Amino acid sequence: MARIECPECGHVEETTGLVTICPNCKADLRTVMAEMGHRRERLREVAHDDSMTTHEYIVRTKDLHKIYKMGEVEVPALKGVDVNIRRGEYLSIMGPSGSGKSTLFNMVGGLDKPSRGTCFIEEVDMAQLDAFELAWLRCRKIGYIFQTFNLIPVMTALENVTLPMIFAGMSSDEMMERGALLLDLVGLGERLHHKPYELSGGQQQRVAVARSLANNPAIILADEPTGNLDLQTGKEIIDLLKELNEESGVTIISATHDLKMIDVSDRVIHIRDGQVERIENRADIDLEVGTLGQ
Ligand SMILES: Nc1ncnc2c1ncn2[C@@H]1O[C@H](COP(=O)(O)OP(=O)(O)OP(=O)(O)O)[C@@H](O)[C@H]1O
Ligand SMILES: [Mg+2]
Repeated sequence: MARIECPECGHVEETTGLVTICPNCKADLRTVMAEMGHRRERLREVAHDDSMTTHEYIVRTKDLHKIYKMGEVEVPALKGVDVNIRRGEYLSIMGPSGSGKSTLFNMVGGLDKPSRGTCFIEEVDMAQLDAFELAWLRCRKIGYIFQTFNLIPVMTALENVTLPMIFAGMSSDEMMERGALLLDLVGLGERLHHKPYELSGGQQQRVAVARSLANNPAIILADEPTGNLDLQTGKEIIDLLKELNEESGVTIISATHDLKMIDVSDRVIHIRDGQVERIENRADIDLEVGTLGQ
C-alpha cells in the first residue's frame, strides 16, 4: 500500500496502485505514480540485494524509549533499550507480561514510532524514512508473524500468502507460483484453497509463516508465534522457523514465553520493565540446557 498525494488538490490516497485518478478532484495521478515507481526501483537496487550488504548488524536500537499517553497518564513501556542484532541470528526476546516485548517489536517492525531514541534497519534510521519508504521497507524487508495468526478470514491460504506480493508489485503468475511453493514449503501443499476456518490452529500459523516469507524478507518478527498452540504444534512451528533460519539465513526475532524457543536460539534477550535485564549467548544456553537435563 502506498500513499499518493494528489499534485492538484493535495488529497492523500492510500492505494495499491489500482487507483489512477484522484477520487477528490479527478486529476490524473499516473505521473506521480510513475515517479514513485522509479523510486521503488532505486530502493530495490540499493537495499534489497542482501549479498551486497556488509553491515554486521541487521537491527540496532539506541536508547529506545516508548511512552504511551492515556489521557493525563503516561505509561513508560520502553526505557532506553539498546540491542544489536546480527544478520542471520535466531534471537528470542523473553520477559514477563507487560515488560515491553510487543512494544519493542512494533518499533523494530516500523509499526509504531519511538518517543525517543533510534531504530536502525541495516543502518538506515527508520525515523528518516518517509511514509512510502517505510511502507516499502515493511513490505520487502520484514515478515510478520503474530500470536493470533492474523489471517484474512474470507481469503484462502494461497490468497493470504500472495497478498503481500501484490503490494510488492509481483505479476499474477509469479504470485501463484511462489505462493504455492511457500505453502508447500510449510507442509500445506494440499491446502492451498482452504480458508482459515477450514484449517487447524497449527496449520493457520503455518500459513502465517508462509505469508511472512512472501517477499523474501531479511527479517522475520514473530510475536509469541506459539502462544495459541498446543505443545507439540508449537514445537513444530519452532522447528520450522529454525529450519528457515538455517537454510535461508533469514534473521528471526521472536518474542516468547515458550522455553522451547531457548533451545533453538543463538541468543536470548531478557527484558523486564522496559529495559534489557540480561543477554544470554548460545554457550550459556547450552550450559543451562545441559544442567536442566541432568
Ligand atoms: N497502546 C497502548 N496504550 C497504552 N499502553 C500500552 C499500549 N500498548 C502497551 N501498553 C503498555 O505498555 C507496557 C508494555 O506492553 P507490551 O504489550 O509491550 O508488553 P509485552 O511484554 O508484549 O506483554 P505480553 O507478554 O503480555 O504480550 C504495558 O504496561 C502495557 O500496558
Ligand atoms: Mg506482547
